[in-house]
Amino acid sequence: MNKTQLIAALDLDSAEAAFALVDRIGAALQWYKVGKQLFTMNGPELVRGLKKRGKKVFLDLKYHDIPNTVAQAVRAAGALGADMVNVHASGGSTMLNAAAKAASETGVCLIAVTVLTSLDAQEMTAIGISSSPAEQALRLARLSQQAGLAGVVCSAHEIKTIKEACGKSFLTVAPGIRPAGSAAGDQKRIMTPAQAAKAGADFIVVGRPILAAENPALAAQKIQEELGSIL
Ligand code: C5P
Repeated sequence: MNKTQLIAALDLDSAEAAFALVDRIGAALQWYKVGKQLFTMNGPELVRGLKKRGKKVFLDLKYHDIPNTVAQAVRAAGALGADMVNVHASGGSTMLNAAAKAASETGVCLIAVTVLTSLDAQEMTAIGISSSPAEQALRLARLSQQAGLAGVVCSAHEIKTIKEACGKSFLTVAPGIRPAGSAAGDQKRIMTPAQAAKAGADFIVVGRPILAAENPALAAQKIQEELGSIL
């Protein structure tokens, strides 16, 4: 098995479209990410449908609330069958600790979002954060690790620094991945699957290069071959 695992982002607007794609891809792919759009419309049934198909589910709902509410949401995600779920690290240590405790009850893998990649230094200043996005991301990664979370979502460009600070076993989940030759779309600081694997990514998240491919199963297979080739 590849050291770096591929997660396909199910950025679609209906359960029918999502299941059609998952069934078309079949055994070529194990992990799927369900985000706010699909979950808001189709909710738990979609997760159950994926689990029925033997798939692993990353529930990308980025919880950010008071500790009790986040802990209950993480508990619910685990009970629903999600294999991975995330929270905003900026919710603070008490929230992260409560979330980690809830995750340990069901065994769901809990990771954190550090700084949204849509925030630049100017926007950070406007919300009262004087650190650079990179400094803030590292601070929040450390905080997440101290609270017992399994890892963070980060750009592939940040993996090296995060692994140096938090250790190799602290998981990194990297979006913004483009196989050579595929359209970057709105992603700016991209890496290829092989580059991300070399950087030490534990998981890569890929959406459009698989979703929009003529043959999504083949696209997923090629990405996994690329990940395997750097072992
Ligand atoms: O289509 P694409 O490969 O760009 O999709 C990437 C997925 O990863 C999307 O679901 C997107 O919301 C998510 N993501 C991201 N950048 C982040 C965090 C999450 O692209 N910083």
